[in-house]
Amino acid sequence: MTYLPPTRRLRERRDTAQALTRLFYRERAVTLACGRFVPFVAPLEHKAELARTAWESALAADALRERVFELRYPSRFLDEQAEELRVDNPDALRRTVRGLRDDYAAYFGAGDDLSDGPSLRLVVQALRDKERQAEALGPIGELLREEPARDARYFLSSFYWPDALDAAYPYGEGVALQLRSAVSHLNEVWAVEAAGSILDALADELGWEFVREAARWLYDESRHMVMGKRRLEQWGFLPHELPLGGYIYEACRGEDPIYKLGMLGYFETKNIGRKRERSAAFHAMGDSTSEVDMEFDWADETLHAEYGRRWLRRLLEARGRDPESWPEVLRRCEELVQERIGQATPEDLARIRARADALVAAAEARAVA
Ligand SMILES: [Fe+2]
Ligand SMILES: [Fe+2]
Repeated sequence: MTYLPPTRRLRERRDTAQALTRLFYRERAVTLACGRFVPFVAPLEHKAELARTAWESALAADALRERVFELRYPSRFLDEQAEELRVDNPDALRRTVRGLRDDYAAYFGAGDDLSDGPSLRLVVQALRDKERQAEALGPIGELLREEPARDARYFLSSFYWPDALDAAYPYGEGVALQLRSAVSHLNEVWAVEAAGSILDALADELGWEFVREAARWLYDESRHMVMGKRRLEQWGFLPHELPLGGYIYEACRGEDPIYKLGMLGYFETKNIGRKRERSAAFHAMGDSTSEVDMEFDWADETLHAEYGRRWLRRLLEARGRDPESWPEVLRRCEELVQERIGQATPEDLARIRARADALVAAAEARAVA
């Protein structure tokens, strides 16, 4: 018998699903490594870049995973990994990112946009991200042994404002409020570290959906940190004038990661009720940068409050505990923070008070009418 010949050379559907599955596991390994590294690199820019790479990689992985499910419809499954992929240091991270970039480019080059258009669409986006990451991850040096690693250009003080140690120290109004709010944003560095750390530590217990949301959480907290950093820089402050701390992260260092989740889910969103009022105060001062930063932060925090509630319950459940027992976790978080505060010395308070007073005075001196 005779037949018409094939008209295009195409990759088979089953092979396509397998190729996309392998890309998924590598993106997942990149996401987890970025989270795990965040507390161990000192420069804030490096923490922020790891956070962004984690988020972009989680988005690529999620799109790959959904596409594999489509190709295997009606079943929804991913093949098991042939071997556990673990990215252990920044060099291996860069190698993995460059390898993914090249493999996306090859996939795209060999793809057929009629039969496999949906894959090509996600591959193009992932390729663009990997090209950016391959550049941006370049400067990240060796991981430090101590966590949280702190950027020595700043005024390092675990307690980044006197009010953590002395409730009578005012939060401030006017210029002091603008400054205090920016210093708070900068000091969300602890939230960046907590989010990175739980992303990796709880990935196996909580599964892919958690990893995807924790990567977004990590990226959001890094944006809040950079918001503060930029406002302070643009007002002309130098890093050595700016307190940079992390007592909340220090309070749960070495503890079960459930407490980092508790700290992040509840302590970081604690001021959510004040944010509207603060953004209105900035509006009245004509400081539209602080106002808009605060509005976007507020939008992110409403998401985070929901993440915190949901994942804390799920984790308790996964561990065979009553999901409604989450208030116990928060009580322990509160205790850990109080213990850390209890270790502060009168010298710690005097030192941060002097820095904060000087910073408020410097801000007032450069305020405009
Ligand atoms: Fe935040
Ligand atoms: Fe948050």
